[in-house]
This record gives sequence, C-alpha cells and structure tokens, in this order.
Amino acid sequence: MQASEVIRPDGPGLERAAGLLRDGALVAFPTETVYGLGGDAKSDLAVARIFEAKGRPRFNPLIVHVPDLAAAREFAVVDERAERLAAEFWPGPLTMVLPLRAGCGLSELVTAGLPSVAIRVPAHPVARGLLRAFGGPLAAPSANPSGRVSPTRAAHVLAGLDGRIAAVVDGGACAVGVESTIVGLVDGAELLRPGGVPVEALEAVLGPLAVGGSSEKPNAPGQLASHYAPEAPVRLEAVEARPGEFRLGFGPGESDLNLSEAGDLVEAAANLFHLLREADRLARGRVIAVAPVPETGLGRAINDRLRRAAAPRG
Ligand code: TXA
Ligand code: MG
Repeated sequence: MQASEVIRPDGPGLERAAGLLRDGALVAFPTETVYGLGGDAKSDLAVARIFEAKGRPRFNPLIVHVPDLAAAREFAVVDERAERLAAEFWPGPLTMVLPLRAGCGLSELVTAGLPSVAIRVPAHPVARGLLRAFGGPLAAPSANPSGRVSPTRAAHVLAGLDGRIAAVVDGGACAVGVESTIVGLVDGAELLRPGGVPVEALEAVLGPLAVGGSSEKPNAPGQLASHYAPEAPVRLEAVEARPGEFRLGFGPGESDLNLSEAGDLVEAAANLFHLLREADRLARGRVIAVAPVPETGLGRAINDRLRRAAAPRG
C-alpha cells in the first residue's frame, strides 16, 4: 500500500491536487464543514473510486461542489426559492437538492440515477481554490470510511483512508465542524439533513420546512440510522455520568472532555467529531456519556449526529 500524499494548501499544492483530479484520482480537501473526498463529478471512474474508497452503498448519491450559482445552473434547475437561498447562504454550509439538468454531463453514479442532484458552493478558501484550479464540478462526500465519524482535520482523513486515496490537501481544522444542511427543493421545501446552517435561518427565508428523509425510508440515503459511529457505546442526554462511564460534557460541570465549557453551540459543533474520536480513544470501550445539548440552532445538527453515533449498530 502506498501512503497518501499530503499536499500543502498553496498555489503549487492546489495545481498538484487539480492534476491528480484530472487523472481521475481522489483528493481529500478541507471545506468549512468537514473534509470532503473529492473526485471529478463528470467521470464514472473517479466517482466509482469514491464509493470504493469509502466502502459506501452504491445507492447513496453524492454532493456536487461548484464555485458559484452560475456553475450550479449548469447542472441543476434553479428556481426562485433556490436563488433566494443562494443569495443568503452561498458560499456556505448549505446543500440544495434540485432537479437535475438533463444532459449536463455529470456521472450518473453521482446522482445514483435519481432525477435530482445535490449541489453545494463551499466557502472554505482551499475548497474554492481547488475548484478554480480543477475547473469543473467535484463530487465529494465526507472523507471517512462509510458509517464512521466525519473528518475535521487532515489527520482524521488519513486515519481512515491512508493508502486508499491519492492525496489530502491539509488546510487545518474545519471551522463549522458538522456537515452542510441539506434542503430538498424538488417538490415542496423539505429539510433532508440538519447541518451547518441552522434550520431557523432557512425558515426565515423559505417559511416552514417539511422534514423529509428518515431511517425507515432513506430518500436521502445518508439517513441510515447508525452513522458517525465510534467503537465505544454512546449514551445520550446524560445529565450525570454513571460510575465507570466516560463523560463528554457540554457547558460547565465535571467532564473528561467538553464540547464547549461555555455552552456555546458553534464551538461545540466545531469540536464534535474531533472529541468523539478522542473520547473513543480514551474511553477504551467504556460507555461515552454525553451531556444534553439544546435542540436549537446548531444544536439540532449536533444532536442528529449524536443520535446516529448512539444508534444500534447494523
Ligand atoms: O458538508 C457537507 O455536506 C460535506 C462536505 C464534504 O461538503 N459533504 C457531505 O457529503 O456530507 P455526504 O456524501 O457525506 O452526504 C451527502 C448527503 C447524503 O445523505 C445523500 O444521501 C444526500 O446528501 N444526497 C445527495 N444527493 C441527493 C439527492 N439527489 N437527493 C436526496 N439526497 C441526496
Ligand atoms: Mg458523510
């Protein structure tokens, strides 16, 4: 097995990364949410390699990353609601599922044959630099083996995928720390995944959102119940730790690790995946007891990820 290359996020580094992508190879890169596992979204071979590297079920479609709204229009039908959301939240941690533009050249593996496509315009300067250097759309799921905790640092990417991908561009820690919010705009407006843009902010633009996608009927198939799973068992809403448990705190009080001592949801989101990994390493099989996190703002995305981490393993 050949180790994956670690690339610096400067001009020559981005040219190197773009060259690898043009050859159909996979390059992980930082976004403001989590690290993405990038491949040429127009190449069946590159997209197939993404599924293979992640060990991901084939039916699960991928997010297409583009530099701006104009590029989004090449691949998707952008209606007036989508324009309003783009004006407010792009570039940023929002993904929109929109009708696919026929004959747009995307690999059918990206959309898993669906008539819709998930599009995101990331804000991270390294992601934007890479999109510019590559000059085309990048398919990029989170850069972790399927079902495991998403990566928010280059070292997390290598821990899961070293030797399985060509390279990772090291852009340091991700600022948001949970994946993008996914809103479906194919029929009505539905929330498909809570994430980096609080639902309240979306509803301020669109009005009330229906909640779509569930573990029973995974219409956004990433909604399988067990996901983001550490090795150790996880107990949620733990007001106090029981004897022998490892305590992951939120807010003031005793804990082994703390998502945010100040009780700040933005800080907690940024720390979440890194501390889940750290807790898993330090707990050594003990139960990880996670303090309650309020279900507002980014708390909704944090609790969604925690519930998946705690779900029975399939
Ligand atoms: O923050 C993020 O969104 C990160 C970074 C790398 O951009 N990406 C990410 O991708 O989280 P991924 O592949 O792990 O999650 C994509 C989600 C999945 O739940 C998938 O089922 C859903 O998007 N999705 C993709 N295309 C869809 C479609 N056409 N209809 C419904 N859901 C879709
Ligand atoms: Mg993922």
